[in-house]
Amino acid sequence: MEEPLEGQTAVVTGASSGIGAATARALAEDGADLTVAARREERLEELAAEIRETTDAAVAVVPTDVTDSDAVAALVEATVDRFGGLDIAVCNAGLAIDEPVSELTDEEYRTMTGVNVDGMFYTARASIPHLVDSEGHLVFLGSMSGNHPRPANPVYAATKWWTRGFAVSLQASVGEEGVAVSCINPTEVRTEFGSESGSPSKEAFEPGSVTEPVEVADAIAYAVRQQSPNSITSLDLYRRDKLSHF
Ligand SMILES: NC(=O)c1ccc[n+]([C@@H]2O[C@H](COP(=O)([O-])OP(=O)(O)OC[C@H]3O[C@@H](n4cnc5c(N)ncnc54)[C@H](OP(=O)(O)O)[C@@H]3O)[C@@H](O)[C@H]2O)c1
Repeated sequence: MEEPLEGQTAVVTGASSGIGAATARALAEDGADLTVAARREERLEELAAEIRETTDAAVAVVPTDVTDSDAVAALVEATVDRFGGLDIAVCNAGLAIDEPVSELTDEEYRTMTGVNVDGMFYTARASIPHLVDSEGHLVFLGSMSGNHPRPANPVYAATKWWTRGFAVSLQASVGEEGVAVSCINPTEVRTEFGSESGSPSKEAFEPGSVTEPVEVADAIAYAVRQQSPNSITSLDLYRRDKLSHF
């Protein structure tokens, strides 16, 4: 039986860890070939080797800093050159530096906005012409913090409000050209998220208490399986008790 993404090509940013790595595995299992991107090349090579061993997918590794617009453009071009087109772009790379706004340094502020805002824009901008050609999917990693206030980190929250606003406005902009734009909004996920300012979420939360990366990857795989004319424009993947406590 043909896999749902057979013959399709994906690019996943932030694939060296957490949700991005799980998404790369999920898309490959669904039949897509893909390029995995992040800064840590060794991690990407390990992931690519694992995916090649466990699926029939072809995997390219392109080390990329998403805050570098030329590097992101080269990442997308390398993917199109290698695979002949682009059907799915997952704008996933992101991070949070938890400091009160009054104590956040310029550098910390620029790191968060550089990755979470500029990186999302650069990846979308480079991908859209190819996604118009393929009538493909553009996926953004938002957050519950992009739907509600996050007192612990207003700048991180604002980057996710930006992402959601960008995604829904882009859907309005490129939907008539056949592109589906999705924003996936999880609550806590057990990954390396949070490492920049303390313990990673995979250590802060017990297994079973919050979402696992593979569960977010399943949501992304569901979004990109949608065929024209449908688009999952927004998908909130919340812990069941989250709205009771926030
Ligand atoms: N975990 C959560 O609780 C949670 C909840 C809601 C939303 N999210 C969102 O989900 C996305 C993925 O996060 P995660 O939880 O999987 O965290 P993670 O395990 O820390 O992964 C973050 C990924 O982003 C990459 N990255 C960071 N800076 C980069 C840069 N300048 N250029 C390229 N890649 C960069 C990292 O790779 P390198 O360091 O190798 O570059 C890594 O692969 C983020 O957008 C995050 O905001 C996470």
